[in-house]
Amino acid sequence: MHLNALKLHNFRNYEQQSFEFDPGVNLICGENGQGKTNLLEAAAALSTMRLFRTAQKKEGLRFETDDASIEGSFCAQQRDFTLEMRLFRAKPMEVYKNGVRQKRQSDAAGIFKTVLFCPDDLLLVRQGAAARRRFLDTALCQLRPNYARCLEEYGRLHEHKTRILRDSEEHPSLLSLWEDFSLRMAKFGAHIIRYRAYYIRKLLDSAAAVHAGIAPQETLSGEYKTVSDVSDPFAPVPQIEQELIRHVFRHKQAEIAAKSCLSGPHKDDLLLSLGGRSAASYGSQGQVRTCTLSLKLAERELFFGEDGEYPVLLLDDVLSELDKKRQDFVLNRISGGQVLITCCEDGILDKLHAGRVFPIENGKII
Ligand SMILES: Nc1ncnc2c1ncn2[C@@H]1O[C@H](COP(=O)(O)OP(=O)(O)OP(=O)(O)O)[C@@H](O)[C@H]1O
Ligand SMILES: [Mg+2]
Repeated sequence: MHLNALKLHNFRNYEQQSFEFDPGVNLICGENGQGKTNLLEAAAALSTMRLFRTAQKKEGLRFETDDASIEGSFCAQQRDFTLEMRLFRAKPMEVYKNGVRQKRQSDAAGIFKTVLFCPDDLLLVRQGAAARRRFLDTALCQLRPNYARCLEEYGRLHEHKTRILRDSEEHPSLLSLWEDFSLRMAKFGAHIIRYRAYYIRKLLDSAAAVHAGIAPQETLSGEYKTVSDVSDPFAPVPQIEQELIRHVFRHKQAEIAAKSCLSGPHKDDLLLSLGGRSAASYGSQGQVRTCTLSLKLAERELFFGEDGEYPVLLLDDVLSELDKKRQDFVLNRISGGQVLITCCEDGILDKLHAGRVFPIENGKII
């Protein structure tokens, strides 16, 4: 998998800029606030159809402009593709695959595969469960198009049911919809749980192996935590669905009282342990970093296992946050795929052998 070219128009601080990338290492360097992360954000958007720094796509529009586009051409499974996202201030985004407008965003997600690693991720283990769910979802949406559809649908229902619960005090008749929404969420939720269970099992196996290479003295393990009534997240979907229905019906009154959806995989978590103890509670700063580093590199290996080719690795400033041993570990692992690395310091340059350098200043290559 590699990104050949990227064209940005009115995206963040880029007015108009094209990039042609090396199939190996691409170093994006420049001072603070020049547009390095913006460039990675654009590349990542082509794979997830979302902006990783915001839930509001409109924030990607260059100040004072009304439309923007991100256009990329890449090669996946020996085939050439183009993808274009057009953002508008006044209407929803449009997505084009090989020039053809796509009906749903999920139809374009996951064709171009990326693994993003940024400084925030280094604390993934310590952050709230939402960050770990996002980590799982970002990978799974790319690996399993059907997962992306289930998640999109579940998210839509969740939002709608939350509105129903919130407005039910003023309009009690709305609660007649509670059951229908709960049943539909259980159906999509069951698929989500099963996908997550299988993915997490593979991810943890691979992460433990990577981790053993960096820190052999302690073992990384983990556990998928989902709705308590689900007895076996690997079970067939109808069984999980029934268990989700049982759980949500038992919590009906609590949901009405709390005016929010209390039951479902939107509360899932991935618990991580080092040497059998919770990494979030007991891990040191360095241990937490190593843990995330292992998960990220494992993610990349799983993509390779599925597709026979590496996803494009997007490293945002992360190397400068790692010690020398771990920097080397990352750099050694990325041989074999394409990588876009941002950095402010020159030090990284010396560690890389070949590739292309993009000096960025104020949204332009200089
Ligand atoms: N929608 C937007 N329109 C115009 N400019 C924007 C927009 N969003 C962000 N910017 C500008 O982009 C710049 C930040 O770019 P970016 O985050 O890519 O910097 P960076 O090169 O990664 O810097 P650092 O080294 O500090 O991480 C800021 O100056 C910010 O004001
Ligand atoms: Mg940055």
